[in-house]
Amino acid sequence: MYDNEMKLEFLSKSSNEAFARITIAAFASQLDPTIEELADIKTAVSEAVTNCIIHGYEDAEGIIKIKARLIKNTIEIEISDTGKGIENVELARKPLYTTKANLERSGMGFTIMESFMDDVEIDSVFGLGTKIIMKKKIKKHLVELKEEEFAGLGGVG
Ligand SMILES: Nc1ncnc2c1ncn2[C@@H]1O[C@H](COP(=O)(O)OP(=O)(O)OP(=O)(O)O)[C@@H](O)[C@H]1O
Ligand SMILES: [Mg+2]
Repeated sequence: MYDNEMKLEFLSKSSNEAFARITIAAFASQLDPTIEELADIKTAVSEAVTNCIIHGYEDAEGIIKIKARLIKNTIEIEISDTGKGIENVELARKPLYTTKANLERSGMGFTIMESFMDDVEIDSVFGLGTKIIMKKKIKKHLVELKEEEFAGLGGVG
């Protein structure tokens, strides 16, 4: 069903944010993304993982899980915690909405995820945890398209 799949599990320490972002970027690089597409994925993963650490588990330590899948030229990334959950998902998605203004959060995490990825799904149960599912289609490079066209015309390769 999927062309490739990976799973990652780590403690909700802020030092693991970079670990998660770099690991998913390494996996995503199989789709041959541009530097910009890779940067978008890294930023979105970073926002979602930071949310699990800061909001999901707050001062406690918990486990964050990431599943990533490749389906044709789309990457699907699932990031979940079993922390406190989101009380009002519709409100949480809104730009500038934050429940931690005192910690200098700007309430832009979900807005950033939505602008850098093609699709962002928030699945949360207050008191049980949160799962974010994000998808991004990696565009085919011009060179590859040209090669396909050439092959279609009966050319070599
Ligand atoms: N994993 C999570 N667990 C519990 N609550 C969450 C989680 N992720 C987000 N939230 C809630 O949704 C709100 C909005 O999240 P968003 O990432 O957009 O903003 P923020 O984290 O508050 O600020 P910023 O991301 O700009 O630092 C958060 O303030 C928090 O209340
Ligand atoms: Mg955030």
